[in-house]
Amino acid sequence: MVDLKSQYLNLKKAVDSGLQEVIDQTSFIKGPAVQQFQDELEEYLGVKYVIACANGTDALQIAMMALGLKPGDEVITASFTYVSTAEVIALLGLNPVLVDVNPDTFLIDPGSIEAAITPKTKAIVPVHLFGQCADMEAILNIARRQNLFVIEDTAQAIGASYTFSDGTVKKAGSMGNIGCTSFFPSKNLGCFGDGGAMYTDDEVLAQNIRMIANHGQSIQYHHDIVGVNSRLDTLQAAILRVKLPHLDEYNAKRNQAAAYYDNAFKSVNGIKIPTRATKTNHVFHQYTLQLSDLLNRDELKNYLSEKGIPSMIYYPLPLHKQKAYIDNRYPEGHFPISEKLCERVLSLPMHTELTIEQLEYISTNVVKFINKQKS
Ligand SMILES: Cc1ncc(COP(=O)(O)O)c(C=O)c1O
Repeated sequence: MVDLKSQYLNLKKAVDSGLQEVIDQTSFIKGPAVQQFQDELEEYLGVKYVIACANGTDALQIAMMALGLKPGDEVITASFTYVSTAEVIALLGLNPVLVDVNPDTFLIDPGSIEAAITPKTKAIVPVHLFGQCADMEAILNIARRQNLFVIEDTAQAIGASYTFSDGTVKKAGSMGNIGCTSFFPSKNLGCFGDGGAMYTDDEVLAQNIRMIANHGQSIQYHHDIVGVNSRLDTLQAAILRVKLPHLDEYNAKRNQAAAYYDNAFKSVNGIKIPTRATKTNHVFHQYTLQLSDLLNRDELKNYLSEKGIPSMIYYPLPLHKQKAYIDNRYPEGHFPISEKLCERVLSLPMHTELTIEQLEYISTNVVKFINKQKS
């Protein structure tokens, strides 16, 4: 699905020398590259504070802790997403309130958010799924009216931007109270292991986040609050410093690959190419097709695999059908869009190193299979 080797080879000299410098300094934890990367990411995103941490899941957990969410508080998020949000909500004893998504964009539906609010609701976690921003203007308006926190999960959309109706343009993660991201290797900005970060413009919140991520201390061995141990290690920060200046170019390459796929599939009956949401650009963390009920997705997946083409189902089950999160508030059929998407989506290889030959080989085989199934 991704070609991390070729991407590394293109940056080898700079990456290797960044790593060597950290090794020479033996500054593995809290070395200078961590602060430098945080400063550079602040500049790139246009936010006041970036606090790096160990992974994107921790980022979400620390964000919820820093906002003072307490057991029983309701947190609204999408039913069609990666598990992290539901996981940290459960771990903190909060109450996950799920809502359905838009059938075209896969993004959380603001109308359903509004309908799910109760006096116990404290926060909304929009997930900028597959690379485009949820409708943040609508979500922020709801949050303002109802006095709710907004934590943006931007693990799949770093570098995407959103345009408000007054023309203001903001980067994914810089609009809510806290933005959370992941630097998992296959992410649009990925390191060579685990990594994550939180962003905010609020100085007090930034201070809280830093303390929580560091065992609840701001002075060494003085633990004022309960925290966790969640650090981005310096080797990862050194790699991310090399890659960050390439992020826009990487996202442009993903868009070129998406445009190739679009063109190959747009007039093929039975597959729906990814819909671009309004007000946001797309950074194509995933290129996800929706197949019609008449096509057999598993057979297509197997056919592609026989041709040496990987494909993935993001996600085979919505959160409310995952064993760990089954909840009698949400019986089967409760979120029909999410459930249908889980049966119909298929993501194709998407990364920065796809060649025209590879794109042609992949798309020709998809079309061949579909024509065969139809005949
Ligand atoms: C939408 C979303 N949120 C959160 C995460 C969690 O990130 P991590 O794997 O770094 O914990 C991911 C990672 O895949 C993700 O896709």
